[in-house]
Amino acid sequence: MSKDKLWGGRFTQPTDKFVEEFTASINFDKRLYHQDIRGSIAHATMLGKQGIIPLEDVELIVKGLKEILEQIEAGTFDFSVSLEDIHMNIEARLSAKIGDAGKRLHTGRSRNDQVALDIRLYLRDELVEISAYLDLLMDSLIYQAEENLGVVMPGFTHLQTAQPILFSHHMMAYHEMLKRDKGRMEDCLKRTNVLPLGAGALAGTTFPIDREHVAELLEFPEVTRNSLDSVSDRDFALEFCSAASILMMHLSRFSEELILWSTSEFKFVDLSDSFCTGSSIMPQKKNPDVPELVRGKTGRVYGNLMALLTVMKSLPLAYNKDMQEDKEPLFDTIDTVKGSLKVFADMVREMRINPTRMGQAAGAGFSTATDVADYLVRKGLPFRDAHEVVGKAVRYCIENEMDIPELSLAEWQLFSGKIDKDIFACITVEASVNARKATGGTALERVKAEIERAKEGR
Ligand code: ARG
Repeated sequence: MSKDKLWGGRFTQPTDKFVEEFTASINFDKRLYHQDIRGSIAHATMLGKQGIIPLEDVELIVKGLKEILEQIEAGTFDFSVSLEDIHMNIEARLSAKIGDAGKRLHTGRSRNDQVALDIRLYLRDELVEISAYLDLLMDSLIYQAEENLGVVMPGFTHLQTAQPILFSHHMMAYHEMLKRDKGRMEDCLKRTNVLPLGAGALAGTTFPIDREHVAELLEFPEVTRNSLDSVSDRDFALEFCSAASILMMHLSRFSEELILWSTSEFKFVDLSDSFCTGSSIMPQKKNPDVPELVRGKTGRVYGNLMALLTVMKSLPLAYNKDMQEDKEPLFDTIDTVKGSLKVFADMVREMRINPTRMGQAAGAGFSTATDVADYLVRKGLPFRDAHEVVGKAVRYCIENEMDIPELSLAEWQLFSGKIDKDIFACITVEASVNARKATGGTALERVKAEIERAKEGR
C-alpha cells in the first residue's frame, strides 16, 4: 500500500493526497538539509564506533550523504511531498542509493530527536551570524557618534523638548540597547548549544550509543539529561523569538525616530536616497521606507513569538505533531531580524545629520530651564523653590513670546534676587550638556569615554 513511505508497514490504506500535503513540512524544513546531513554523518559514525552497524555501512552512508548534499546544493535534488519532511527525503534517497546500509542509518534514532538536533544546529549558526550583524550596526552607531561629536540636539520626554543632549549620546543609547540584545543572543546560544540526539522517540534507546561522542563530533559542549524533555523542548526557539522581539522593539523605536527626524518639520536627518523611495503622484516626496518597513516587521516578529508560545501551550509531553509548526515562525524571525539589522547597519552609517537644525532646536523650547533651577540650588535655594521660580520665568517668557536665552538680567531678577550675570554662562546648550558629567551623563567628555569603552568592549 504505502510503499513509498518509510513508515508504511502497519498501514493498509494510502495517505489521502490532500492530507499528505497538509501534513508535510518539506517546503519549509528543506532549509535544514545541511544540519540533517551533518547530524546523520555524526550519528552513523558513532553507530560504527560502537559496533552497532558495520563500519563498511558507515563508509557507504557517509559517502552517500555527501553526494546527496552536493545534489541539494546543486539544485538537482528532487524533494518529494509524499516523503513529508527533510529527514525522510534524505533518508529515502540514501536507501535508494546504497540499499541496506542506508536503511541502517536510523538505528537508535527517531525523527523526534533528529528534528530537535537539526533545529538546534541551525539556530546555533544563525545566532552567531545575528551577533555579527549586531556588531555591524553597533559599529555604525559608534561611527555616527564619533563623526558628530559635539553636535547638540534636544532630548525629549513625552516627545516634548526636555533638556539639550549630544547627538552622540543619543546614538550611544541605541548602542547600549543593542549590546543587551547581543547579550541575550549569546545567552540563548548557551541553551541552544546542547545535544538532544540519543533521546530516541521519547524514552532513550536500547542500543549502546555514545551520546558524548556525537556531541564531540558536532561540537556541542553538553548533552541533554532527560529524553522526554529533549524531544519536547522548544524553549531555545522561544528564547530566541523573545530576544528577537526585544531587538525588533529597539529597532522600531529607532525607526520611529528616524521617520520623525526626516520630516520637513524636524529636518534633523537626511537618509540616503538609496534607502528611500519616491511617490508616484507627489513629486516632492522622499519616503523613509526602510525604517517604516522595519517598524512594520516588528509586528510580524512579535506575532511569531506569540504563534510559537501558543503552539507550545499545554502540549503534553513529549513530541506532538503540533511542534512541526515551530519552524516557520522561527525561520521567519531569523530572516526578518537578519534583514533588518543588515539594512539598518548600512542606512545608519550613510545617514547625514543636520547639526544646525538640531542645534537650533536644542536651544529652543525652554530646554535649559532645569539648568536655571540647578543654578539657583547652587546659590542656596531649595530645589522645589528654585523649580517654582523658574516656572514663573517660563510663564513670563510664554506671555511675552520669548525663550530663556533672551531674558535680560533685569528680567531674571524680577523672579529672584539670587540671580546674577553668571547665569548666562549656565544657560547655553553647551554649558547645559557639559554640566552633566556623572557616569552615564551627556557631557562631551563622558560621551567620549563611553565611546572608547564601547570600542574596547569588542
Ligand atoms: N516533520 C516533523 C517536525 O518537523 C519531524 C518530526 C516528526 N516526528 C514524528 N513522529 N512525526 O516536527
